[in-house]
Amino acid sequence: MATDKTYRPSTNFSSQAHVSSMEDYHSLNQRAVETPEEFWADFAERNLHWFSKWSKVLEWKPPFAKWFLDATTNLSYNAIDRHLTTSRKNKAAIIWEGEPGDTQTITYQELHRRVCRFANVLKGLGCKTGERAILYMPMVPELPIAMLACARLGITHSVVFGGFSAEALKTRILDLDAKIVITADGGYRRGKEVALKPAVDEALQDCPGVEHCIVYRRTHSDIAMQPERDHDWAELEADASEICPAEELDSEHPLYVLYTSGTTGKPKGIVHTTGGYQTQVRATMDWVFDIKDEDTYWCAADIGWVTGHSYIVYGPLLAGATTVIYEGAPDHPQPDRFWRLIEKYRVNVFYTSPTAIRAFIKFGDEWPKKHDLSSLRLLGSVGEPINPAAWDWYHNIIGGTRCPIIDTWWQTETGSVMLSPIPGATPTKPGSATFPLPGIVADVVTMDGSSVESGGEGFLVIKKPWPSMMRTIWGDPERFRQQYWSQIPGIYFTGDAARRDSDGYIWVLGRVDDVMNVSGHRLSTAELESSLVRHEAVAEAAVIGKPHEVTGQAVVAFVTPKKGWEADEALASELREWVANEIGKFARPEQIRFSDGLPKTRSGKIMRRLLREIVTSDKVTGDITTLEDLSVIERLAGQQEDD
Ligand code: WT7
Repeated sequence: MATDKTYRPSTNFSSQAHVSSMEDYHSLNQRAVETPEEFWADFAERNLHWFSKWSKVLEWKPPFAKWFLDATTNLSYNAIDRHLTTSRKNKAAIIWEGEPGDTQTITYQELHRRVCRFANVLKGLGCKTGERAILYMPMVPELPIAMLACARLGITHSVVFGGFSAEALKTRILDLDAKIVITADGGYRRGKEVALKPAVDEALQDCPGVEHCIVYRRTHSDIAMQPERDHDWAELEADASEICPAEELDSEHPLYVLYTSGTTGKPKGIVHTTGGYQTQVRATMDWVFDIKDEDTYWCAADIGWVTGHSYIVYGPLLAGATTVIYEGAPDHPQPDRFWRLIEKYRVNVFYTSPTAIRAFIKFGDEWPKKHDLSSLRLLGSVGEPINPAAWDWYHNIIGGTRCPIIDTWWQTETGSVMLSPIPGATPTKPGSATFPLPGIVADVVTMDGSSVESGGEGFLVIKKPWPSMMRTIWGDPERFRQQYWSQIPGIYFTGDAARRDSDGYIWVLGRVDDVMNVSGHRLSTAELESSLVRHEAVAEAAVIGKPHEVTGQAVVAFVTPKKGWEADEALASELREWVANEIGKFARPEQIRFSDGLPKTRSGKIMRRLLREIVTSDKVTGDITTLEDLSVIERLAGQQEDD
C-alpha cells in the first residue's frame, strides 16, 4: 500500500498554513499526547473566554469524562460577544442564501442583536437554564440564531433534521421532556415548500409536556396556530430587548443532544457539553480547515446533523469566520447551484460529502466549468470513505489541482474531527483519512485490544478521552458504557473497521455494526426493521444496505407478509411510505423484497450476510451450514428485483 499515489501540499499552501509541515504536526501531537491537560488548557486559555477558570483540566472516571472542571463559560459569548471588541464586529458572521434566491448578510454585531432578542423571547416564555428545547426548522438564519440563543441561556437544544417525520419528532420531544418547540411553517426544497408545522401539530398531540411552540414564518403558507400554545416568532420578537447577558454556565453544562441511530430500534441521544466541545471544535477550525480571517467558508451540510452543528454554526463562529449557509437543494434551479454560490461569494474553503460529489459527477462537468472557482483554496470531505474516482474529480474539476483535500473522519459522538490530513502538512492518499489529529490517541486493534501490524485490518478505536467527546446517552448511561466502552474494555469503540498501511496511514473501511450510511445519513437496520414490523401486514422484516453508485448504500428490505396479505406492488409501495412516515423520507427503502421466510441460524438470528450476498450477486457463497432452512436461500436468490 506504500505505493499509493500521494499528494503533497504545495509550498504555496504550506507557507501560509497554521500547521505547515509534518515536523510541526509531530511536535504538536507529541505535546498533546504526552501532556494533554497542559496542551488543551493552553489552547482553551488562548482562544476562548472563561468567566472563571478551571480547578482541574480533566477528570477521567471511565467511561465518564469531565473537562475544565468548575470553570464557567458560554459558547454563545465565545461565538459572538468575544468578537465585538475586535475588528470583526462588522464582519459578516453569516452569509445566507435561500433557495428562491433571497439573501442576508449578518454581521457579528447584528447576530448579537438578533440572538439576544430571541434569547429574551425564550426568557419571556419562562424558559430556564437546564430545560430542553426542540428545534425543527429549515436552513434559515433563525435556526443558528435559535441555537445560539439556547446556548446563551443554557437551554439544552436538540435540532431535529427537517426530513424527520412527526413520529421521529415526537419520540425526541418525549425522550428529552422538552417544554418548548421552535419551528417554522416550512422551508424550500427544489422549488417546493417542505411543510414542517403540520408534523409538529401531529407530534404535539401526544406531547402534553410541551407548553410553547414558536413558529417562524418562512413560506407564509396556511398553517394552524393553536391559541396559548403557538406563537408567531416575529410578534414575540417585536418587543424583545436587545440586551441579554450570556449566562455563566458550568463547563460541563449540556449544550445539545443530537439523536443518531445505533444498533437497536431506539435512537440514541448523544450528549455534548460546553467547555471541552468548544475547545476542540475551535482547534479543528485551525488544524483541519486552516481558517483565516479573510476566508469565506462554506460547509454545505444540513444543520440538522452534527456536521452542521460543529462546522456550519459553532466552529466557524468561534473562529470569527464568515460562514455561508444555503437553504436548498444543490440542483435547484439547475445542477450548478453550488458552483454558482462559490463564484458569487468567492468561497475559499468548501466542505461537502462524497455522496454529493458523486451526484455532481453524474450531473456532468459542464456545470462546474461554467463558473470561476478560482477562489477555492481548500476542499473537505466527510461522511464516508471518499472513493478514488470522486477524489480525483473533486481535486481536478473543483479544486483545479491546486487545493488540498482533507478527508475528515469523525462521528456525532466525537463532536469534532478526529482523523484528517493537516492540509499544509500531510501528504494525502486518496481514500485515506490519514492520521489522528493532535492529542487524539486512535488505533486499529483486534477484538482483544492489541494493535494490528501495518497492512492489517481491525477496529478503529480511541484510547484516551478527548475534549469534545460525547458525555453520555441522554437518560441511558448504561447504554453509553455498554455500546462504546465495553466492546473492547476501557477503550472507545467507534463501530468502524479500518486498515493501517505500511506508511501508518489509516483507511476507514466502514461500519462493522448494523448501521448503514445512506447519502451520509446514518440509519440503523434495527430501527428500520422495527418500523416495518409495526405495520399490520408484516410478520417479519430484515433490512440491509446495498451498494449504491450515488448514495453509497441504499436500503433493501426483505419482508415476510402475514397470512392473508398479498405480496404485491401495492403493498410494497405502502410499506415504503410507511417507513417514510415513521422515520423520514430519507429512510424510505429503495426496494422491498417479499419472501415467505428469512435465512436464520438455528438460534433464530437473521443471517444478514446472506441477504447482502443475495442483493449484490444474487447468489450465496461461503458457509451456510448454520442455516436452519436451506431452501429459503434458493427461493430468495431466484427472485427478480422489484424496482
Ligand atoms: C460515521 C459517523 C461526522 C459527520 C458525518 C457523519 C462514517 C464519517 C468518514 C470518513 C470514512 C466516515 C463512519 C462514522 N464516516 N466520515 N471521512 N471516512 N467514514 O456522522 O452520522 O455520526 O456517522 O460516518 O462510519 O462512524 P455520523
